[in-house]
Amino acid sequence: MPTIKIEGTGEQFEQTESQDCILRAGLTAGYGLAYECNSGGCGTCKFQLIEGEIEEPWPTAPALSARDIKKGRKLACQCKAKTDLVIKMRTDPEYAPINLPARFEATLSSRRDVTSDIVEFCFQAPDSSDAKFLPGQYAMLTFPDGRGPRAYSMSNLPNGDGVWEFWIRRKPGGEVSGALFDELRVGGRIVVDGPYGHAYLRAESERDILCIAGGSGISPMLSIARGVLMDPDMEGRQVHFYFGGRTPEDLCGLDELKALPGFDRRVHYRPAISMPEYASDWTGDTGFIHEIVENQLGNELSRFECYLAGPPPMVQATTKMLQLQGNVPTGQIHYDPFY
Ligand SMILES: Cc1cc2nc3c(=O)[nH]c(=O)nc-3n(C[C@H](O)[C@H](O)[C@H](O)COP(=O)(O)OP(=O)(O)OC[C@H]3O[C@@H](n4cnc5c(N)ncnc54)[C@H](O)[C@@H]3O)c2cc1C
Ligand code: FES
Repeated sequence: MPTIKIEGTGEQFEQTESQDCILRAGLTAGYGLAYECNSGGCGTCKFQLIEGEIEEPWPTAPALSARDIKKGRKLACQCKAKTDLVIKMRTDPEYAPINLPARFEATLSSRRDVTSDIVEFCFQAPDSSDAKFLPGQYAMLTFPDGRGPRAYSMSNLPNGDGVWEFWIRRKPGGEVSGALFDELRVGGRIVVDGPYGHAYLRAESERDILCIAGGSGISPMLSIARGVLMDPDMEGRQVHFYFGGRTPEDLCGLDELKALPGFDRRVHYRPAISMPEYASDWTGDTGFIHEIVENQLGNELSRFECYLAGPPPMVQATTKMLQLQGNVPTGQIHYDPFY
């Protein structure tokens, strides 16, 4: 069982499970290793190998630039220790998990078409063990035959019944989303590993909530909105919910939001489409979702706790708009780009 030491911090932990990456080994030991996507896309988990040998199954992950590769930088979410290691890596208590990630095999209890390319998958954990996560977090899903892992955000709330619900969009030609859509039927099994992620609901914040979702980014935003409306301590908070799709057929989530207590008083659902040329009878907002948010909320933006999820270009454009035009402090912006 390899031991991993983080140089200069006194932090050290063991890679106890053979399938663990360095990031998971550190997080399950309770350390705050820096990360975001857990998928090789963001580069937050970069480290420098000082001593020891690693296994690196995806040396060309998109988060590694040619310069990183030349300098020998690696990704903790993509590498495993083969021997004891000494590494140099950023850690911060703010990255330490509130609920330690756990891995278990779950059974698909139901699936439901939400749109033509989004399906709701509900998984049941064994023995109905608690589904411990925070609204807005994600889990890594892997087929028992090893396909994956891929990150998917929970759309439901933490619960004592062991239910993990995801809204997953089929990526054309995508390996894991395609297999989930085409192969997984009720009673089928999947390995769930979670929770992960920092874009979770800050229930302690007194501010109103701004949720901005693009495409399948609806999944964690639904969980955040549910978290706000179901928490009696958040009774005074309003939720401004912006959802951008390509055409009206992509828009979803309204029925689920309407089912929440206080929807009429507290939720302001604002859908928009970016391809009006394919929707001649659409009379609602059109354009990129970050531009619509800016136009409608203008200089009010800094009074919100902001949550964002969706494709990386949408998340990047929205974050930039919130910071530069909206003057929203970085600490009030919580985001997950879906790499
Ligand atoms: C934090 C986060 C949350 C997400 N939440 C959702 C969600 O709620 N709903 C949703 O529909 N989608 C979500 N996604 C996107 C999802 O994880 C997948 O990227 C998407 O479903 C496409 O996967 P695929 O296997 O179908 O496509 P593929 O094209 O086969 O794979 C795409 C992804 O797989 C990973 N990957 C590719 N090659 C390798 C490799 N060799 N080794 C390791 N990893 C590799 C990369 O992350 C890449 O982006 C989320 C992504 C992130 C990062
Ligand atoms: S957390 Fe490893 S690349 Fe994003």
